Amino acid sequence: MKLVAGNSNKALAQAIASYLDTELTRCSVRRFADQEIFVEIQENVRGEDVFVVQPTSYPANDHLMELLILIDALRRSSAKRITAVVPYFGYARQDRRSSGRTPISAKLVANLITNAGADRILTIDLHAGQIQGFFDIPADNLFAAPVFNRDIIERYQSDNVMVVSPDTGGVVRARALAKRIGAPLSIVDKRRDKAGESEVMNIIGDVGGKDCILIDDIIDSGGTLCNAADALMKENAKSVTAYITHGVLSGGAVARITSSSLKELVITDSIEPNEAVKNATNIRVISVSNLIGEAISRTANELSVSSLFD
Ligand code: R5P
Repeated sequence: MKLVAGNSNKALAQAIASYLDTELTRCSVRRFADQEIFVEIQENVRGEDVFVVQPTSYPANDHLMELLILIDALRRSSAKRITAVVPYFGYARQDRRSSGRTPISAKLVANLITNAGADRILTIDLHAGQIQGFFDIPADNLFAAPVFNRDIIERYQSDNVMVVSPDTGGVVRARALAKRIGAPLSIVDKRRDKAGESEVMNIIGDVGGKDCILIDDIIDSGGTLCNAADALMKENAKSVTAYITHGVLSGGAVARITSSSLKELVITDSIEPNEAVKNATNIRVISVSNLIGEAISRTANELSVSSLFD
């Protein structure tokens, strides 16, 4: 088995390699003067089961192109099987036509990865589970929930926890975590009764005195999360902590989180945290490297991956 890393999250790839007690395959991913990407695999991969670790996070287009070129290089080097390990799958939020004359970019990206030569894809907390169906190759969608679950149990008294979905779209995900930790579920319901009126946040469920755990797949601008945290504190929650798999954290998101009413934001290293994230006082990063490493090991040994979540 070979583990290859692009440039988007070398630290995670290295941590996965350590879990698997192996070394990253020597390869060079660099730029020509005109910014075209050039890849060179510097070890023999003929007949190998190869896993390419490359989340397609910011800058999404560059990281996606690196992934495609890496897969192409491996295919032309006669790798036996290529698995694209894409912990954060960029473009996932464009999974349907939101209005007329718009693309379904998540499907386009799935086609690109498949046509480049990937035989399988491995990812975590896809924005929508049905994106797996965009791939005509096997797609394994892991869940960060067990990692979050352990962290929550270590830090909170279970009888005072309330799991909260920050919007109605995230209820299935939040319900799954609530079930795992045996906690009740509450929902933030955003409504705009008339066009032009500002959005009103209604909380479904009694959060008074509770340690609220907001759960979501992506934090981007931080708007959804900070508004939900404010609404919960207004309803007399004792504290609000958020567990969110993918820390996209664009623009002023880190500053917004730092000055928010959130006690803590916990994200995973599916996207490499930048310096601002590392220095933020109320953001903590927990690793999914062991989870991915175990899924890779099971895939390589033809063992069940889904049983990781039983
Ligand atoms: C939306 O459906 C996602 O699950 C997240 O809630 C959303 O992407 C978060 O975006 P932002 O942080 O910009 O509000």
